[in-house]
Amino acid sequence: MLNAIVDGLWREGDKSLAVRLVAENGDALPAWQPGAHIDVHLPCGVVRQYSLTGDCGEESYLICVGREAASRGGSRYVHETLRPGQRLSISAPRNLFPLHQAERVLLLAAGIGITPLYAMALHLKAIGTPFTLHYYVRSRESAAFARELSQCADCVIHTTSPRITLAEHLPAPEAGLHAWMCGPAGFMAKAREVAAAKGWDDAHIHSEAFQPVAPPAAGDAGEIFTVKLASTGERWPVPADKTIAQVLQENGVDVPLSCEMGICGACLTPVIDGVVDHRDSVQSDAEKSAANQQVALCCSRSHSRELVIGL
Ligand code: FES
Repeated sequence: MLNAIVDGLWREGDKSLAVRLVAENGDALPAWQPGAHIDVHLPCGVVRQYSLTGDCGEESYLICVGREAASRGGSRYVHETLRPGQRLSISAPRNLFPLHQAERVLLLAAGIGITPLYAMALHLKAIGTPFTLHYYVRSRESAAFARELSQCADCVIHTTSPRITLAEHLPAPEAGLHAWMCGPAGFMAKAREVAAAKGWDDAHIHSEAFQPVAPPAAGDAGEIFTVKLASTGERWPVPADKTIAQVLQENGVDVPLSCEMGICGACLTPVIDGVVDHRDSVQSDAEKSAANQQVALCCSRSHSRELVIGL
């Protein structure tokens, strides 16, 4: 954990608030790469994950928080209570959405999904990789970083519905072209649908969800199975109304948890044996079906009677 101070707060568009954080001791905060996020422990008692945005060469951190009508506490606290000079505990950056080597890059952002992609755009520009950023917003007034983006020839802000214009903006696939996308689940589903129709290879599309997967319906919480620690051979049943993480914690096992919604990756743990019922939205479909898999202990379950994990 790091102790940070709110060094600046300002509006980005009419729906978002930018927050600049500096280290309390005056040191540079740990280095990060575009796509990284931090956990922010808010004084209202909730922990939220926010993408780092802006220039990744800065010694301070910049996050941008959208105002959510149905806020579960984090957005409302940041918009209504957080003040400059306030102290916050934050985690070191964690990157589950990294930029990979690519000859050309397409960036697709919707709403507050602009935050990691704005950092990517600045980085790509700095290293000279050709890219185009399409940023979809309901109105020009709601766009974050509108002034900076309007000065970038490779960045376009759209107020048209992506459902209608994505097909026009998403080019045909090319060998060296990769896409990174971030936004609401519906936006990304549509973008993937359009890309698939154009023949894009799934491995060239990289995405990050800002919404947790829908929780299982009542009565669909899953069967009882057993979780076993590979290191000690200890095993415990996981009832339908508890997560693997809860069962492990009840038995004194230290589990790294953060979002507890399957969206941050803090609890991903290697699977040694068994068939995972993946319920997180952190991992790609390819990762969820790879030979070496990880399980999100906060939300995923098991299709097999026993799941052996690398703890
Ligand atoms: S704690 Fe965030 S994915 Fe499990």
